[in-house]
Parts: sequence; C-alpha cells; structure tokens
Amino acid sequence: MAGLIPRQFIDDLLARTNIVDVINGRVPLKKAGKNYQACCPFHTEKSPSFSVSPDKQFYHCFGCGEHGNAISFMMEFDRLDFVDAIEELASMQGMDVPKEENKQTPAQQKQYVQAQQQKQDDYKIMEQIAQFFQQQLKVADDKQTAIDYLKGRGLTGEIAKRFGMGYISDSWDGMMNTFAKNQMLSKQLVDLGMAIEGDKGRPYDRFRGRIMFPIRDKRGHVIGFGGRVLEDGTPKYLNSPETRIYHKGQELYGLYEAKQANKNLKRIVVVEGYMDVVALAQHGVDYAVASLGTSTTTEQIQTLFRTVNEVICCYDGDRAGREAAWRAMDNALPLMRDGISLKFVFVPDGEDPDSLIRQKGQAAFEQILDRAQPLSKFLFEQLMSQTDMNSLEGRAGLVDSFQPYINKLPDSILKDSIINELANNFGTGGEQLATKLARNINASTTSIQKNKTNKITPARLAIALLLSDPNLANSLSDINALSHVDLPGVSLLNNLLQLCKQNHNMNSAQLLEYYRDTEQGKQLAKILCWQHHVEPENAEDVFLDSIEKLFNTFVEQRTELLLQKARSGQMSAQEKHELQTLLNA
Ligand code: CTP
Ligand code: MN
Repeated sequence: MAGLIPRQFIDDLLARTNIVDVINGRVPLKKAGKNYQACCPFHTEKSPSFSVSPDKQFYHCFGCGEHGNAISFMMEFDRLDFVDAIEELASMQGMDVPKEENKQTPAQQKQYVQAQQQKQDDYKIMEQIAQFFQQQLKVADDKQTAIDYLKGRGLTGEIAKRFGMGYISDSWDGMMNTFAKNQMLSKQLVDLGMAIEGDKGRPYDRFRGRIMFPIRDKRGHVIGFGGRVLEDGTPKYLNSPETRIYHKGQELYGLYEAKQANKNLKRIVVVEGYMDVVALAQHGVDYAVASLGTSTTTEQIQTLFRTVNEVICCYDGDRAGREAAWRAMDNALPLMRDGISLKFVFVPDGEDPDSLIRQKGQAAFEQILDRAQPLSKFLFEQLMSQTDMNSLEGRAGLVDSFQPYINKLPDSILKDSIINELANNFGTGGEQLATKLARNINASTTSIQKNKTNKITPARLAIALLLSDPNLANSLSDINALSHVDLPGVSLLNNLLQLCKQNHNMNSAQLLEYYRDTEQGKQLAKILCWQHHVEPENAEDVFLDSIEKLFNTFVEQRTELLLQKARSGQMSAQEKHELQTLLNA
C-alpha cells in the first residue's frame, strides 16, 4: 500500500508534523526534561512510562514496548490503516494527499493506472452481478422456492436486503447470459471466479441454483460470493475462489454490514457461517462476522482489533469448533496488547448461533456472550485437559506446554497474569519447576530491562547515532567503506548510510518510515528506543570510531581466513591478491 502515496509526500508530511502536537491532542502530555510523557494509552498503568521525543519525532512506552512515529500513532490510537492515517495527518497540515505515484517510470505508471482501472471495473461488474442476483428473487421463474427457503430460515425481506442476499436459478448460463456480452467480459468473469472455463472453452456459471451471499470488503465493494444450495445438495456452500480482488484470509463476511449498522461498534462476534451472521442480525445481534475459511487468520483478527476492543469467537462446541477456536487463539496471541480482549463461547452440541438465537432470542444470546470465556481461561482449560494433573511429571509438563504460547504474547498484563497463575497454582512441584517459572517471569519483565541487556556493538552504536543525526553520513570520506563488510548489523547500517546520504536533514521518524513493516524496521525501532548516551558534540568522533572498528574487525577476520587458506594451500590467485592488499593496508 505504501507505494501508492509518493515517498516524497510522506517525507514532507513527517517533516511538517510535530508528533508532540498530534499526541497531545489525544493524550495530554507533560514536559519531562527534553521529552514529554504521559500514562500509556496502549496499556493500563498508574505511573507514566509513555515518552514522546520531539527530537526523534518518536514515541515509546517503556512498559508495553509500543513505539513509532506520528503515522504509527494514528494507526494505533485512531485505529486507522496506513493510508487513512496519512490522510488524517495531512488534513491537520492542510495538505492534500496526491493520489498517484509520480516517481515511477512511465511503464510502471501505466501498469499502475491499468491495475487501478481494472480494479474499478472488477468492483463495478461484481456489484452489478450482486444486484442481478437480488433481482432474481423478484423475477426468476422459481423465485417462490427461494423466497420460501429464506422465510423458512426466519429471515425477513429487510434483513435479506441489508445483506444484499440474492438467488440464481439452476441453469448453466443464468448469469453469463446477462453479463458475458463479449470475449473480454467473459474472460473477466472467469478471472473473478464467477464463471468456470469448460472443456469446450465456453465458460459457464459457477453458481447455479443457490441463495447468494455477496462478500464485501471494508469499503463495501463486492469482491466475492458464497452460495448455498436450497435443499440438501452438495456442496452445501460454494465460495468464490481466490481472485485478484478476493483474498479470503483477509476478509470477514459481515464486517462492512456490521459497521454500517453500528456507528459505534463496541464488540464483534466471530461465527462460522454466513447464515449465522445473517440470523444473528435478524434477531438484533448486528455485530457478527464470519471468517471465510476454516480458521480465523492473524490478519483477520488484526482487522477486528482495529475496529473494536473486544472480540468474541463463538464456535460450535464439537471438536472441530474447539480446534477452530484454538487456531484463532494461536493466531491472535502476538496481537494481544493491553486494552483488548479476545473471548470464546461454545454453543451446545448440535446447535449453531443461528439455531440458538432463533430458539432463545437476543437477550438470552447476549447473556451467553457476556459470559464468554477469556483467552487465558480457554488456554488453561485446553492445556489442562491434555495433561495428567495427578502426577508430578504431568504438572511439570503443563508448565512446559505453556511455554510456546507465553512466548508468542507481547509483554502485557495478560502475559503476567498467566505466568502468575501458573506460578501460584502449579509452581509448587519442586525446585526445577520454580526455576523454570522464574526464568519465564524474568523473560517477560518490561522492555526497559531488555534494552539494558542489549549489547552495545559498534554497528548498533553507529546506527543509533545515524538515526539521531543522519548528517553524520557526510562525515564519512567513503560512503561505501563498509560495502564488503560481512558482519552482523552492517548490511542495515550500509542501507541506512545510503538513505542518509541521499536525503539530508531527515529526522529519525522520517528515516524509520522507509522501513515500515520490515524486519529491518523492527531492528531500527529497537535501537531508536535505546539510549546511547553519546553527547552531540562527541557524536561524530564516536560514529567514525565505530565505523573504523567495524572495518578493522572485518579486515582481521578476512585476513585470518585467507591466511588459513594459504596454509592449507587452497588459495585462488584472486584471493592471493586480496591477502596481499590486506596485509599492506
Ligand atoms: N462452508 C463452506 N463449504 C461447505 C460447508 C461450509 O464454505 N461445503 C463454510 C460456509 O462459510 C458456512 C460455514 O462453513 O457458512 C459453516 O458451515 P456449516 O456449519 O456446515 O453450515 P451452516 O453455517 O450451519 O449453514 P446452514 O445453517 O445454512 O446449514
Ligand atoms: Mn447452520
């Protein structure tokens, strides 16, 4: 997505934005030395560990580890996606976000424009097909069967309309006849998964004789369909395949509709089926979504937590439902920062949310939701059910079985409370267990301690100094001095040096923005959170010194290696030459 907004614009925006103003408008800040501080908006705390640096244009919480620049803050605090966060910051500065990439080559630009055009065309035809399916409920010869089916499932016309539900009779070309007016359209419909290319080359309708559920993305575009047979045919549900506009692991059925129905969504229920979503809405629970595959992905959970603070997974109570819940939980663990909660509800065997709400009604169903099991409880229950709690080995094994899940959790109240509960209830079985838990607890204490134990390597120090002052890159006589140096951290350092050389006077936040969503970005943010304690007047000396150290280490290592080769007589002519140069240097 970052490619759509010109890099230059993002640089300018970050140069004009003052992160202190942005944050102060949302979380009142107090001056503390050079920096500003507040109680962290991303986790619950009594004393302030959230710090904002006007120099670095960067925030960092020493408690929960959240950090980033003004864009990151808008994304996290206002729950915006990248583009929306940029839009919001730009509007504060009275700037307009340019819509097209203007730094691309003409060929790239053309390709980009074509892809955008294609997308708009795709959305348009999919919307028209959705309307056609809806229309079929009024005009198809066998419309009454479909209407009776929907009525039989307790749905009113109003709800069917809200979800854009439709119908297509059982024939090979009901949809294609109307839409595939030429070769190009025919191909587009195959690409979009609406038609299947037969052996004889004439594509035919994928969906036949089915109730149709349009799947919308978060902006409301129809990107795919699910179709249910009216009676007992197989498969019961047929879904759009993955296409250029439909990626099922990223989408949630019903999210757009839930947002439309509630300007202020507080919680979202995740269920397994299309019909569950629609039936819940029919009975007043208009905040349900369905994941469109077997398990709920990390991306889907992330989308949900950008929308609400509370997500309740409501699955079948059978083995498959519990497994689905377990996978959802596993995918969610890395996202579980303070302030959000993931809960689980299992419906009784033989029921599903659809049948349950039809029997019991909204109030009773919502009572069940209110009593949902928190993530930690679900985790304990599942892991304990797989453990022999009567034996000492079993109990010791339980602590081990928690390890991989605890490791996935970010530092948080949830993590601490799981570790505490383990220690209090299962930590009495001997020395070994106690030590193990102690290790766990140490591993989970705040990032302040972790930062302290970060070793100060020359590469890390050089990067830290460059981040505070990109102009240091100009103090190097040869920007490529380290280009052949193969030591940890140096490739990132080289990359950063090039960037600093090309762009003068950037601040830390701007530099970091170049690395958004990359592994390198994570490393850089970590280094930026760390205090190097080098006074500005010494920065250049220390920087040059670090570079020299890196270079010398490399020369030593390389010389040693080549000498070894020389001793064993395995040296090429080129290497001989290199060794000579190194020894002379
Ligand atoms: N599903 C699917 N393909 C199938 C069966 C199921 O894609 N052959 C997906 C659909 O998204 C469906 C969900 O799994 O909504 C749940 O399936 P299931 O529990 O079998 O059906 P219900 O949702 O209960 O459907 P209905 O109430 O209409 O029988
Ligand atoms: Mn069902």
